[in-house]
Amino acid sequence: YTEEEKTEDYFFKIVLVGDSVVGKSNLLSRFARDEFFPNSKSIIGVEFQTQKIEINGKEVKAQIWDTAGQERFRAVTSAYYRGAVGALLVYDISRSQTFESIGRWLNKLQIHSDMNVVTILVGNKSDLKDAREVTTAEGKALVEAQGLFFIGTSALDSSNVAAAFQTVVREIY
Ligand code: GTP
Repeated sequence: YTEEEKTEDYFFKIVLVGDSVVGKSNLLSRFARDEFFPNSKSIIGVEFQTQKIEINGKEVKAQIWDTAGQERFRAVTSAYYRGAVGALLVYDISRSQTFESIGRWLNKLQIHSDMNVVTILVGNKSDLKDAREVTTAEGKALVEAQGLFFIGTSALDSSNVAAAFQTVVREIY
């Protein structure tokens, strides 16, 4: 590519949403820097990372936004979702309560984003096999009903983390 052609490459804003402590920040740190934090504190406000992803030989710049799941940070909402073309909607497979919140997060996405956001449902913490409260079948069933993609991930053991981000980017593209 010439320098000029490179600027023609794609730039996508992707948001991470879901309840607090489901592992949003760790999915991003595992993907962007291959880091995992066993005792990470909830982040306050918003943070983003820009990550290059290659799709069909084209470079896509994904700007991935991460915010705290708590309702008390409601104020960040509109700026957070504005311009987003993709979303990773994350729950924790070891806490069914975080799965029950999915409908509420989908509503938020629909209300606050300007376009049809490509959404992938992410069942995180698949390493916690003995503590599992939500089956993969339940995750997939919800996906079918809502027309979304589904993937099970673990930020701890890295499984499917890159695949989750790559799937969203590929589907936007
Ligand atoms: P908020 O910032 O409050 O919205 O939380 P968050 O969704 O960003 O969660 P965070 O990444 O801070 O992770 C919460 C806790 O879960 C931390 O103690 C992580 O170490 C842990 N955690 C995250 N991902 C995994 C995982 O895949 N497996 C296991 N076992 N623990 C995880």
